[in-house]
Amino acid sequence: MNARFERTGALTELTSYPQWAQNMVAECEDAKQGVVGHELWSVMSEGTLDATSTRHFMAGVWPVIERFPAYMAHNLLKTRYGRSPGDNMARRWLVRNIRVEQNHADYWLHWAEGAGVTRDEVLHGPAPLGTGTLANWCEEVSGNAPLAAGIIATNYAVEGATGEWSQLIYDSVTYKESFPVSNRTASLRWLQLHAAYDDTHPWEALEIVCTLLGTAPSTAEVAYLGECVRRSYISMQITLDRCLDARRASWALGEEAAA
Ligand SMILES: [Fe+2]
Repeated sequence: MNARFERTGALTELTSYPQWAQNMVAECEDAKQGVVGHELWSVMSEGTLDATSTRHFMAGVWPVIERFPAYMAHNLLKTRYGRSPGDNMARRWLVRNIRVEQNHADYWLHWAEGAGVTRDEVLHGPAPLGTGTLANWCEEVSGNAPLAAGIIATNYAVEGATGEWSQLIYDSVTYKESFPVSNRTASLRWLQLHAAYDDTHPWEALEIVCTLLGTAPSTAEVAYLGECVRRSYISMQITLDRCLDARRASWALGEEAAA
């Protein structure tokens, strides 16, 4: 049954969305904190992320950056104009926003280069084992799952958590000043664009999902969407953990040597 949802409250207020969506967001909050509160961001913000971990991060996350418009394209293929208000909204939004993603891969490479990781290392260098977890999940859910699941896993969960961690780093004066003035703006462009303060994409994605499902979806549908959101956060956390492994390993070696 699809009791129609039409948002009347503010886009960026959780209370504007149906109760099932509010509950789902609350239930996934702990998994989201595993990403937003990840150690990697504090180390990066302090400007003390070592060169190996920086390279792992830039190369390890790259497949998701590069494929993000393709995930959206997979979801676009699932829409049919006129089938439902949610389909129309998703189609319109995806067509428009795939284009917005156009330059983001270049901006990621500029960030990497500014941080000392060459374009070649990002594109062709080995990514640490396990960092493909997030890319694999995004590919699977956008390729094979229903439209609402694909959108909530990528445009809501991945982009939403990314907005929060991007803002943490972009707000760090220490981090900004670690880039030479000559290429600081170009290096930080990706972070600036993804920082949560002017990114409404995750909210728009949530609105689309709620329009697709209405105010009274089945318990099974809600449970499945919640699981998709959780899997996105957990996959992100695993990917970030693997980026820091080299750092942990070198610490362990250092401690052994000192002992
Ligand atoms: Fe982007």
